[in-house]
Amino acid sequence: MDFLTLFCIYTLTVLASIVLVCKYAGGQEQTALGRTYSRVINVLSPYVPVWLSRLSNRAVHKLFHERNNLFIYLHLLLEGAVYTEYSYEVFGYCREVGTTLTSLYVPYALLAVHLCLFYLCCSRDPGTVTNTKHASQVKVYPYDGELFNPGELCPTCNLVKPARSKHCRVCNRCVQRFDHHCVWVNNCVGAQNTRYFLLYLLSVCAMAGHIAVLTLDLLLNVVARTGLMYAHYVDSAGQQQPTGFSFVVQHLFLTFPRIVFMLGFLIFVFFLLAGYFLFHLLLAVGNHTSNEWYKARGRGCRHCHPHSGHHCGRPSSFNPLRGFYSRGIFKNLAEIFMPLKPQLRKKKHK
Ligand SMILES: *[C@@H]1O[C@H](CO)[C@@H](O)[C@H](O)[C@H]1NC(C)=O
Ligand SMILES: [Zn+2]
Ligand SMILES: [Zn+2]
Repeated sequence: MDFLTLFCIYTLTVLASIVLVCKYAGGQEQTALGRTYSRVINVLSPYVPVWLSRLSNRAVHKLFHERNNLFIYLHLLLEGAVYTEYSYEVFGYCREVGTTLTSLYVPYALLAVHLCLFYLCCSRDPGTVTNTKHASQVKVYPYDGELFNPGELCPTCNLVKPARSKHCRVCNRCVQRFDHHCVWVNNCVGAQNTRYFLLYLLSVCAMAGHIAVLTLDLLLNVVARTGLMYAHYVDSAGQQQPTGFSFVVQHLFLTFPRIVFMLGFLIFVFFLLAGYFLFHLLLAVGNHTSNEWYKARGRGCRHCHPHSGHHCGRPSSFNPLRGFYSRGIFKNLAEIFMPLKPQLRKKKHK
C-alpha cells in the first residue's frame, strides 16, 4: 500500500471516530441524531424494502434508546487494542532507547485505577428516584422556579419530579441531580456517581496522555538517532534532496504504521476528553449539571441587561459561575464528592 492510501484510511478512521464520539458520548444529542436518521429514512423509504427499514429502525432503537452493553464492549476493545500495541511494540522499543522501567509501568497502574473507576461508573446507582425514598428525595434541593418548578409530575414514573432531577428515557427512570446518560458506561450520570465519572474522565486522559508522551519520545529518539532530519535522498531525477518534515513523518508512518496510528488516536482521545473533563469540572465548581446547562442555554433574554431598562419578564440568562460565587468552589466540589443523601437530610429534619 502506498503512503496516500494508508493516510486516507487513517484520516477516515479518525474522522469516523470523531463523529461517533461527538454524537453519542453526550447522550443529549441522541434525539437530534434520531431526527436526522428518521429524515434520511423518510427520503429513502420508497427505495428501501420495508423489512430492511424496520430492521434498521429496530437496531438504532436498541443501540441508542435502550440500555445495552455494546459501547462498553467497544470501550474495552479499544483499550485492549491500545494496551496490546503498547505492550508488544512500544514497550520494547522504549527499553531500547533507554526509557526508565518506572515510567513504562505507569500506564499499567493507571489502567488498574481506571478499570475500578469504570466499573463504579457502570454499576453504581446514579440516584434513582424511587417510591420509597421519594418523600426525602424531594427535600434535597429547593425548587428554583426557573428551571425546576414545584409540582411537576413525571408522567412515566408518576411521581413529582425532585428539583434538579430528570427522567432518563434510555433507562426509563427519574434520576436525582441528573447530568446526562452516558452510553460509554451504559448508565446515567447523576447525584451519586458524578464523582466517579469525573475521576474516570481524568483517568482516561492520564492514560492516553502518558502513553502518547512515551510514544512521541520514542519516535523523536528514533529520528534523532538516525539523523533523518538532516539526511538526503535521491529523487526520481537523480538529484540529491534534503529530507524535510513531511518526509520524516512519512518515513515514520511507513516504518511504524501501528505505533503512529495509535499515537494519532491517543492524541485525539486526549484532547477530546480533556476538553470534556474541563467542561464537567467547570460545571461542578459552579454547582451545575449539564442538564441544567442544556436547559438554560438560550433561555435568557439578551436585551435584559441590568441598565438597559428592558424587562420582558423572561428569566435572566444562565451564568455558569453563579454557584461559584454563591457558595465557593470547595463547597460545590464537596457536594459532588459527598453527595447529599436523602436519608441523612431526613434525620437532620427530625
Ligand atoms: C447547589 O445549588 C443548589 C440549588 O440549585 C443548592 O440547593 C445547593 O445548596 C448548592 N450547593 C452548594 C454547595 O452551593
Ligand atoms: Zn420519570
Ligand atoms: Zn440513563
